[in-house]
Amino acid sequence: MIKKIVFSGIALAVLLGVFIVARVWLFSPEDGIKRVSIPEGVHDPAEWGKAYPLQYQGYLKNREMAPSPTGFGGSEKTQKAVMEPANLMNFKGMGFSKDYTEDRGHPYALEDLRETERLTPKTTGACMTCKTAQIGGIFKDKGWAYARTPLTDLLPTLKHPITCSNCHDPKTMNLRVMNPAFIEALAKKGIDVRKASRAEMRSYVCGQCHVEYYFEPETYRVVFPWNKGLQPEQMYAYYAEKPAGFTQDWVHPDSQTKMLKAQHPDYETWSTGTHGMAGVACADCHMPFLRESGRKYSSHWVTSPMRTVEESCRTCHTQSKDWLMARVKTTQRHVWDMQLRAGSTVSRAHEAIAKAAADSRVNGAELENARELLRRAQWYWDIVSAENSMGFHNPAQVLNTLGQSVDLAHQAIATANRAVSASHGK
Ligand code: HEC
Ligand code: HEC
Ligand code: HEC
Ligand code: HEC
Repeated sequence: MIKKIVFSGIALAVLLGVFIVARVWLFSPEDGIKRVSIPEGVHDPAEWGKAYPLQYQGYLKNREMAPSPTGFGGSEKTQKAVMEPANLMNFKGMGFSKDYTEDRGHPYALEDLRETERLTPKTTGACMTCKTAQIGGIFKDKGWAYARTPLTDLLPTLKHPITCSNCHDPKTMNLRVMNPAFIEALAKKGIDVRKASRAEMRSYVCGQCHVEYYFEPETYRVVFPWNKGLQPEQMYAYYAEKPAGFTQDWVHPDSQTKMLKAQHPDYETWSTGTHGMAGVACADCHMPFLRESGRKYSSHWVTSPMRTVEESCRTCHTQSKDWLMARVKTTQRHVWDMQLRAGSTVSRAHEAIAKAAADSRVNGAELENARELLRRAQWYWDIVSAENSMGFHNPAQVLNTLGQSVDLAHQAIATANRAVSASHGK
């Protein structure tokens, strides 16, 4: 009798367990979308689309190249230097002065990598880390060796840009990250990505690519400079501590200054901003929930949230669509104005140092001080300019960073002038 009760108790518990797993795993109770297991290594989004048509339709919209509703950003492939001529001077002597375009949708990532005029025969595999869903398999096969393999050897094997498997585990459809550099950067901070909550994953999937990074010399490993923190000053302090030559991205031909090129720190900038601190995830704004015949699903058109103010913003904000649009535009206009001022002041610092260096009586030590000030000034301008939201992700911090850039660039000019006039006095 007791045996029977225990037995049926166990049977009941097993049944209940199966039921719960099936509901949570296969039929997410929240969205009612049936999960289908897709084999690892299938990267063609059309294959995934057979099981998930709504998400696939959204993904295909990433090929649309509409201008941004705010007038900043957008998906057209325009050269940034047209709007901000200081780029030509500030990036002189390196690839970004030849070709530096506005970003486009995820399906273009490989095409744009193939077409960029910044590619040279020396470009290595590290560059494809954030451009293809195949990175997971490649890293599994080769480890970090892929990063120093010439890109020209790897490109013919790359068929798929950023697709579903960059963000989803194909078996469960749970969110996942696959960029090894991101996983390592978080591990160094004591964070195990595998244990992240769903809410954290809604930003981590983006943070694996939309970040500042550099390639380690020799190995070309992709590294995020996060050991001291994610703010511009902290990342600069990280680079400043590296041995001479380590951070020498390129030497500016006019000012002979060892420069750093900033990448796109969307994740870092967001993380200390109003929304990041309040736990509002990238996906909350950029992949809002939509409805189709009563079913709730995530928009997979990863674009400007200002196209979907109702779904992206008004889930939390009670203000009108026009009010929210006006706030965003006001922030962006102020940031754009300061960014132009910082960029052109930095350009003038390159000129002032070049002029001082050409004077035979220049004080060399003072000139080096001017160069260090310029290196920092340009980094502070660039880390904002390379960010994609024109300040919206963190208005207060971004304006502070640009303010520091202008101040440092003026100090660089004054120091360069002094380097000449001081020696004249001798
Ligand atoms: C850039 C990252 C990213 C890419 C690429 C991506 N997704 Fe998603 N997907 C998400 C996020 C974020 C969610 C929301 C998950 C959550 O909140 O748990 C999501 C949710 C889903 C869901 C759950 C239901 C829903 O809509 O919320 C399905 C199904 C899905 N995606 C399918 C796809 C398919 C199919 C593709 C490729 C055509 C794809 N995803 C590409 C990030 C991505
Ligand atoms: C595997 C790397 C990767 C992941 C993951 C990723 N992105 Fe991107 N994203 C890129 C690259 C690279 C581009 C630029 C592509 C180009 O210009 O060819 C881009 C472009 C964009 C754009 C510009 C689109 C346009 O039409 O101008 C937005 C917005 C964006 N990403 C947001 C996100 C958000 C939000 C997430 C997370 C849900 C995310 N990305 C996840 C690498 C990634
Ligand atoms: C509170 C909402 C919100 C959150 C959260 C948010 N963004 Fe944005 N993002 C915006 C707005 C608004 C813009 C400016 C869009 C415009 O000018 O049309 C923007 C712009 C961008 C762009 C440039 C789009 C373009 O057209 O070129 C990228 C890329 C981007 N965000 C990525 C991210 C990433 C990655 C995260 C998380 C780390 C994130 N965003 C978090 C609201 C948000
Ligand atoms: C998940 C909730 C949530 C979403 C979605 C959200 N916000 Fe916010 N937003 C907040 C919170 C919380 C604050 C800070 C406290 C407050 O003002 O209520 C804030 C503050 C703001 C501020 C003032 C502070 C600043 O940084 O300028 C603006 C402007 C703003 N949001 C605009 C937007 C826009 C535009 C969108 C859509 C693209 C959006 N928000 C989406 C929650 C959200």
